[in-house]
Amino acid sequence: MNEVNVGVIGTGWMGSLHAKVLSRLPGAKLVAVADPDVERASLAAREADGCTVYQTYDELLSDDRVQAVSICTRDTLHLAPVRAAAQAGKHVFLEKPIASNVEEAEAIISACHAAGVKLAIGFLLRFDPRFRHIKDLLERGALGEPIHVYARRNSPRNVGPARYGGSLPLALHVTSHDVDAVLWYLHPRQPVSVYAQSVSKLFGSLGIDDSILSIVRFDDGTLAEFESSWALPETSRTQIDARMEVLCTEGVVEIDGAEAGVYVAGRNGVDYPDTYYWPEVGGMIAGDLREELADFVDAVALDRPVSVTGEEGLAALRVVLKMIESARSGRAETIS
Ligand SMILES: NC(=O)c1ccc[n+]([C@@H]2O[C@H](COP(=O)([O-])OP(=O)(O)OC[C@H]3O[C@@H](n4cnc5c(N)ncnc54)[C@H](O)[C@@H]3O)[C@@H](O)[C@H]2O)c1
Repeated sequence: MNEVNVGVIGTGWMGSLHAKVLSRLPGAKLVAVADPDVERASLAAREADGCTVYQTYDELLSDDRVQAVSICTRDTLHLAPVRAAAQAGKHVFLEKPIASNVEEAEAIISACHAAGVKLAIGFLLRFDPRFRHIKDLLERGALGEPIHVYARRNSPRNVGPARYGGSLPLALHVTSHDVDAVLWYLHPRQPVSVYAQSVSKLFGSLGIDDSILSIVRFDDGTLAEFESSWALPETSRTQIDARMEVLCTEGVVEIDGAEAGVYVAGRNGVDYPDTYYWPEVGGMIAGDLREELADFVDAVALDRPVSVTGEEGLAALRVVLKMIESARSGRAETIS
């Protein structure tokens, strides 16, 4: 099987991790990166032999070696690079969420369909063995029928707000991960309504919520409750305090994602390092992020369908936007 030549567009926090994965991923070759911040792009390219650094994505997309791109610009800046990539005939891996509004998400899906290129959305929990285990149990009917789901994703106040303050709603950036996982778990049930409340005591001046709590009802009556916050204290023992519980008629399954199995007490305090999402192991990025990019590269190489589609990205976005709307209106909102 030939290697798939990949380019990364946007080499900030996430894009630099993508570049690091793709530099060492069997079956892939990182041939180009693009970012207006050329210094940042050069850092991301340094581990890949023959990787060209571009200042604009148009230049990257004109590079005939590039077969597929990973787009890692901010949530509100997804449409333009996806459209350009699709028009240039490149397959697209797009970081979550698909977009920040429905119109742009639909335009992203149409552009990729029209060009006949693949579109995969970066919901990395799909590739997490713990989250996958729940899906397998539910698919086998091992626990009976779902009754309710609880999903939590909280992180320290010095991380998300410092990076995204003023620009990104918490639910769009954070809750979207769990919404996608729950829609995946409960498929083919459909979400019908949502009631949400949010609070901003710490970050109101930045125009973002501290926390948002939401309850979604599905068409068969199943309930899903979502808790998302980026207001944990800086001293929090974990970077991502995640939890997933699915209570069913014949059992319950729970993921305690607050700690990832490793505890370090060192000179500067205690640390519970990530061992699932994108841990660095022997100089390489492992975990969910590596698995999802490997899956995308495999889909391109074998010309098979991607695992997380644009339509699924849009379905998660519709729920998240209704959460935000409900928190603003103070009413339950219908999801259509
Ligand atoms: N899967 C996850 O768990 C996870 C975690 C964090 C972020 N993300 C997602 O990754 C994406 C990027 O987030 P981030 O935190 O890395 O943002 P960031 O701000 O750190 O990086 C964005 C980069 O895009 C670059 N950029 C802006 N305009 C560009 C353009 N026209 N062409 C090329 N590059 C351009 C910026 O210079 C910056 O380097 C978002 O969609 C975010 O939701 C996903």
